[in-house]
Amino acid sequence: MSLTTAEFRKAMGSFATGVTIITLDLDGEVHGMTANAFASVSLDPLLVLVCVDHKARTHAHLQAKKRFGINVLRADQRGISEYYARTVRTHDDAEHEAGARFDRTKHGTPVLHGALAYLECRLHSSQEAGDHTIFIAEVEDVVVRDGEPLLFFQGRYQKVGEEIEG
Ligand SMILES: Cc1cc2nc3c(=O)[nH]c(=O)nc-3n(C[C@H](O)[C@H](O)[C@H](O)COP(=O)(O)O)c2cc1C
Repeated sequence: MSLTTAEFRKAMGSFATGVTIITLDLDGEVHGMTANAFASVSLDPLLVLVCVDHKARTHAHLQAKKRFGINVLRADQRGISEYYARTVRTHDDAEHEAGARFDRTKHGTPVLHGALAYLECRLHSSQEAGDHTIFIAEVEDVVVRDGEPLLFFQGRYQKVGEEIEG
């Protein structure tokens, strides 16, 4: 059996995920990147992972900065996901074009306004894995808000449907 990238993508697309923006400070400017390859790893210590393509600018930034934020998007933040997945974008246009505004944590990490959750992350370790790197980070702080998540399923943005009664 010789599996194609398209078949692999289709299978992985059937695994519904939330959508996050990885944020970090770049000389006083906010750098963000849309990512859904994000998962919980460990409770002791508190660890998460995010997989980043070697070709993404964020890859080099994470290796250099070692501190970043993970912002879990709300259902009405689709435009922010699209903006931070674009190849060409500037920090100056983020608010005007996508409505993305940021605060800073005490560590200087940018936090996206209105996100469903925020995790303050410090790089713990990384593992090369094919054309991506798995960045594992210790979670130092979290903020969680009420609301509905933005979902990504079969290559499309979706929102949570009805609860399945037990
Ligand atoms: C819904 C969605 C999820 C994505 N998830 C990831 C991901 O987990 N890892 C990754 O490397 N790129 C992911 N991307 C692609 C990056 O957001 C995109 O390549 C971006 O332009 C990289 O920005 P940068 O070059 O500034 O780092 C995703 C894109 C979308 C639309």
